[in-house]
Amino acid sequence: MTLFEAMEISPFTHWGAQLRRMQPPDVEAVLEIERRNFGDPWTRRAFLTEIEAAPVSQPLVVEYEERIIGYVVPWFVADELQIADIAIHEDFRRRGLARQIIMHLCEAAQQKNCTAAHLEVRHTNTAARQLYESLGFQITTVRRAYYGPAEDALLMSKNLIS
Ligand SMILES: CC(C)(COP(=O)(O)OP(=O)(O)OC[C@H]1O[C@@H](n2cnc3c(N)ncnc32)[C@H](O)[C@@H]1OP(=O)(O)O)[C@@H](O)C(=O)NCCC(=O)NCCS
Repeated sequence: MTLFEAMEISPFTHWGAQLRRMQPPDVEAVLEIERRNFGDPWTRRAFLTEIEAAPVSQPLVVEYEERIIGYVVPWFVADELQIADIAIHEDFRRRGLARQIIMHLCEAAQQKNCTAAHLEVRHTNTAARQLYESLGFQITTVRRAYYGPAEDALLMSKNLIS
């Protein structure tokens, strides 16, 4: 039994989209979204490695009408959740999908007695920052010029202990 199954994450039904485990045949569609959104995209090998890294890594895709429209790569290490990568195709944004995915992961992590969720975001990524802040993530560390001279990295965390 994988950790994902052990966490008993309930079916994802938001906006008619399904959240399910990422499989190797999904990686091409995931890469297409990844490359459209990130200047330093993860490679095919990186996603395949994540799929193989279960149960520590539990990559998931969002599928809508047989199309991959988003994905998330959560890591479960010790008693912490780390959201390593997340993107939603631009045609399907502002429908609450990313919010529901992260809430879903945080609830599952809480059920496994995880104490905190962490992620990293570029300081200029307003959409992602607002999303995370709206979910209770707070900036814990600023890595100055981490992505280049004008781009800081923000480490954000959310306490999962209620
Ligand atoms: C960030 C991202 C994952 C959000 O996905 P999404 O499904 O559109 O987000 P949601 O619909 O769940 O938005 C939830 C909240 O986040 C905030 N938000 C999302 N997109 C926003 C935007 N473009 N501008 C301002 N706030 C935004 C809002 O508070 C929003 O709530 P609201 O729609 O009720 O106002 C998506 O924009 C994306 O894939 N971006 C490119 C990849 C990326 O930057 N990933 C994160 C790396 S750290």
